Amino acid sequence: MITLFIDNQKVAVKEGTTLLKASEKLGIEIPTLCYHEGLPPYGACRLCVVEIIGEKKNRMVAACSFLVDEGMKVLTISDRVLKRRRMIVEFLLARCPDIKAIRDLADKMGIKKPRFKTKNLDCILCGLCVRVCNEVAGIGAIGFVNRGKKLKVDTPFHLASDVCIGCGACSFVCPTGAIEMELDAVKRFRELLGIEHKCRYSLMGLVSYKVCSNNYECWRCKVDQRIRDSLATHPIFAAKKIKTEKVNQYFSFLKKIQE
Ligand code: SF4
Ligand code: SF4
Ligand code: FES
Repeated sequence: MITLFIDNQKVAVKEGTTLLKASEKLGIEIPTLCYHEGLPPYGACRLCVVEIIGEKKNRMVAACSFLVDEGMKVLTISDRVLKRRRMIVEFLLARCPDIKAIRDLADKMGIKKPRFKTKNLDCILCGLCVRVCNEVAGIGAIGFVNRGKKLKVDTPFHLASDVCIGCGACSFVCPTGAIEMELDAVKRFRELLGIEHKCRYSLMGLVSYKVCSNNYECWRCKVDQRIRDSLATHPIFAAKKIKTEKVNQYFSFLKKIQE
C-alpha cells in the first residue's frame, strides 16, 4: 500500500492507483471530461489538473493519469489549480457555448462569458468515442481526421462505415451529447452496404448468432430489454469483460494442461 496526503488528509491506496481514484477514496471530487472508468486514462482535457507539492518546485499534473507515490502531498483546490481549470473551462465554453455539460462547469466556476472568440461546436475532442470504438469494441469505425483547427471525429472519408456494429458506445461515453444514436441509420447503412441484418448484441458478442427480427427497433425489443435490465453499464463494456474472462479461462486451462 502507498500512503499519501491529499488536501492534508492521509490516505492509503494500492500501488498503481491514480490520484483521481485516491481522491475519490477521500470523497474529494475532481472534475473530469475525457475520463471513463471503462477505458485507460488519456489525459486530453486536463480538467482534472491537481498540484503536487515538491521540495523545490510544485508540479501540475492530470489526476486521471498520474499514479500515487509514497509520501506524496497533493492539492486539488489550490489557487493555481483553480486558475488552470478556469482557463480550460473558458476555452471549452468558447468552443461549445451551448453544451449543457460545459455550461454547468462554467456556472460552478462563476464564468458567465468566455474571454475568447466563440464558436458553435458540440465536440470537445476528448477522444472518448474514438477510444471506446477502438479499444473496447475493437472496431475502429471512427477516428480523428484533419489537423489543427479542422481536427474532428469522423468515419474514414466521411462515408457510411461498413464495420460499425451499431453498438452505440460512442454515443454512450460522449460527455457533450455530440453523437446521437440513430438505430434506423444503422439499418440504412447495413442495407446500403448489403450487410446481413445481424442483431447488435450478436455483433457485440453478447448473444450467440442472431439475425435481427425486429427491424432494428431495439426500444421495443425483448432482447434489448433483457440485456439492458441485466447490466449496470453499456453492453459493450460487459462484452469486453466476457471476452477478457474467456481469454483468462483459456490461459488457466492452458496453464493446467502444461503443468
Ligand atoms: S464526439 Fe463526444 S466523445 Fe467524441 S471526441 Fe467529441 S466530445 Fe469526445
Ligand atoms: S431490435 Fe432486437 S434483435 Fe434487432 S438489433 Fe435490436 S436488440 Fe437485436
Ligand atoms: S479527465 Fe484527466 S485529463 Fe481529462
